[in-house]
Amino acid sequence: MTCDFLVIGSGIAGLSFAIRAAAHGSVIVITKGKALDSNTAWAQGGIASVLRPGFCDDGDSIELHVADTLDAGAGLCREDVVRSIIEEGAATIDDLTSYGVSFDKDDDHFALGKEGGHSKRRILHARDTTGLEIAESMVEVARRTPNLTLLEDHFTIDLITTGKLGVTTEDRVLGAYVLEKHTGEVKIFRSDRVLLATGGCGKVYLYTTNPDSATGDGVAMAWRAGASVANMEFIQFHPTCFYNPAATGAEARSFLVSEAVRGEGGILINGKGEDFTRKADPRGSLAPRDIVARAIDREIKKTGAPCVYLDVTHKPSGFMRERFPFIYEKLRSFGLDCEKQPIPVVPAAHYQCGGVLTDINGKTSIRGLYAIGEVACTGLHGANRLASNSLLEGNVIARRALDSIVHHYGVERNGDDAPEIPDWHHGDVTAPDELVVIYHNWDELRRLMWDYVSIVRTDNRLRRAGTRLRNLKKEVREFYWGHRVTADILELRNLVAVASLIVDCAIRRRESRGLHHTLDYPGLDERFLRDTVLRRF
Ligand code: SIN
Repeated sequence: MTCDFLVIGSGIAGLSFAIRAAAHGSVIVITKGKALDSNTAWAQGGIASVLRPGFCDDGDSIELHVADTLDAGAGLCREDVVRSIIEEGAATIDDLTSYGVSFDKDDDHFALGKEGGHSKRRILHARDTTGLEIAESMVEVARRTPNLTLLEDHFTIDLITTGKLGVTTEDRVLGAYVLEKHTGEVKIFRSDRVLLATGGCGKVYLYTTNPDSATGDGVAMAWRAGASVANMEFIQFHPTCFYNPAATGAEARSFLVSEAVRGEGGILINGKGEDFTRKADPRGSLAPRDIVARAIDREIKKTGAPCVYLDVTHKPSGFMRERFPFIYEKLRSFGLDCEKQPIPVVPAAHYQCGGVLTDINGKTSIRGLYAIGEVACTGLHGANRLASNSLLEGNVIARRALDSIVHHYGVERNGDDAPEIPDWHHGDVTAPDELVVIYHNWDELRRLMWDYVSIVRTDNRLRRAGTRLRNLKKEVREFYWGHRVTADILELRNLVAVASLIVDCAIRRRESRGLHHTLDYPGLDERFLRDTVLRRF
């Protein structure tokens, strides 16, 4: 199969790009699950944007949003990138409403919410299912866009580049090997312009707010293809994941209670009812996430309690039902009435702030390969992402990536000089009879990342994690080459690769900054006021 633009991933970043690119050439969007299985669809809070004067919170401005983003990013944001993305906020909201996204309104104006680290109300939302509203609208538009084909249940195994084929010209992308999950067939998708929009890697940790699909596929593939990767040590832990020890399903274990709940007055308390976060930061429960997650971690370790609580019982009766109907009902289904009882919560892995290193247009170090959304490290988030900045980034960079491709490369295909791409060869063994090994490795990996590489780190823990990961990697590699590929093997292979990148980056940063906190180097160190960049070649 050949197309002008191959987009891998169907969240806001991938679809924003695809819908626009279809006006310039043929687009294929491939996604390993169903179109709505993206992190985007799970986003509860909303999208941060400074609206035009008269429509935003009193006194809000681009400057204030920039300042909040830089403050959260702890010195590592690229200010030019931050500014450009934030300046395009209002245009992004126009884009989304043109796709049919319906944000909540108070009278004629958009209703604006608040989240941690924001000095003003500037989060547009659709109650507490903003991501789903966006994802559903965009998938619908994508399905009726001429020139755009959306293929579900197609798992990208690896990118194909001239470098990987050993062709000694400038390293450029040629397409991808893709597993069609239903048939087990591996096909070649040829394209000179490949957009990685595969989201993040929350599943690398035992506890995460992410859907099962968040297995770091894009970072792992780009790394194997030779692209540079940066800042993977900065994994954001969301402070308030519902603590539900009796939970059985993945959904119950990973249920997020949006930061917007704290924005509307929810307060974090310990078992004695004390507002413990004030000791860490005067902004208390609404400080940036790294600070709040660490305060919870400390409180849990200090008291020995399994969780802390998010208290909204002081809000007027009916408030939660009205403003957060999804969260309210979901908690009810788990047996908790949050209008009457505080919600037990713990931090859980939420967002990957580093990723495939790109410029402000999503351009990676490999010609023709772009990365947009959570998979990318553009410089917006620095050492800690400001809440609700990511849907904004996904849309803005998608728009810029298309402009960059059209203006710099044109849209004609590279044509006849493209080298021959060899067919895919499976390993010998048809059915992985040792499937149990895969699941065991999967559990071991996620637990060791949780135990050794989570909110608080040490050199020793990181070294131990590195040693275990090397063994796991070896085992997974044997599996991968010996067996017919399946989605399970591919995801495990990607998770191990991404976990190793997180540890490699974390070991290099000998200071505590933003989301990377280590007991061995508890303070900031100016010598590390730079990105952690890993280069393959
Ligand atoms: C939330 O609703 O708390 C998540 C929003 C985000 O991560 O940006």
